[in-house]
Amino acid sequence: MQREMFEFFTTLVEKISGISYKEGKEYLIESRLNELALTLGYRNVEELYNVVKSRSDYKLINEIVDSLTTNETYFFRDQHPFDTLKNYIFPELFKKREKEKKISIWSAACSTGQEPYSIALLLHEYFQSYLKTYQIDIYATDISKKSIEKAKTGVYNQIEVNRGLPVVFLVKYFKQEGAHWKINDNLKNMVRFEILNLLEVSQKVKTKFDIIFCRYVLIYFSQETKQKVFRDLWNVLNPGGYLILGATEIAPVSFPDMEKKILGKTVCYYKKD
Ligand SMILES: C[S@@+](CC[C@H](N)C(=O)[O-])C[C@H]1O[C@@H](n2cnc3c(N)ncnc32)[C@H](O)[C@@H]1O
Repeated sequence: MQREMFEFFTTLVEKISGISYKEGKEYLIESRLNELALTLGYRNVEELYNVVKSRSDYKLINEIVDSLTTNETYFFRDQHPFDTLKNYIFPELFKKREKEKKISIWSAACSTGQEPYSIALLLHEYFQSYLKTYQIDIYATDISKKSIEKAKTGVYNQIEVNRGLPVVFLVKYFKQEGAHWKINDNLKNMVRFEILNLLEVSQKVKTKFDIIFCRYVLIYFSQETKQKVFRDLWNVLNPGGYLILGATEIAPVSFPDMEKKILGKTVCYYKKD
């Protein structure tokens, strides 16, 4: 791919999504954009490039961003954050929110939904009695329209359900439909999916959360963008709440009301009460 074209696309994508492409990714970008170009009926990536350059077509630009996101995810990814939710965070929060009887959880950058559905499943499996008396909101967002559309269906193929999901849970919470598995309505209805760009949190997110999962997405951003997004997430975390990043990630900035707690095997950023 020509240097000029690579720079045009990477600058565009970083401006919109924060995803920063390092040198050496030319081949990956070219192959994904070529595939998109063909799907949209263009002859090749050059033709796509000329169209995007000549007019501001937001739908097309969003398709380009979508095609360049990495949507890798699986049920109970890393396992220990879900053990930590089960063993420490949920028991503590159910006690702390005894008066309000309301807990809000946000899976920010949820990809195709395995992360928020894992949280819903865990609540169903281990905290059933609270589900009757507490209002539990699981908000799940991603910039990728394609991923959110898939997440909303709650339908996964055999490979996807084989990744991270114990067979007992598969049998209990999913129904086989041909070669696919559909999550049951009780779990599906617990999660509210929406398209949301993490660069727009301060303008668009007006509610607060007790738990925020923001895993394996800040790794794609520049240091400056990481700090901005982390700060915006921190601002919508309730006092007494927890923000959890991917297992290999660390907070890019710290605040006076932030305490790093290690619960089980998970590093959690706790907002002091
Ligand atoms: C590698 S996946 C991680 C999914 C899930 N959190 C997990 O840990 O399994 C990263 C996700 O971040 C999303 N993403 C990238 N940039 C984003 C942005 N600016 N706003 C919201 N989501 C974004 C991608 O679309 C992708 O679905």
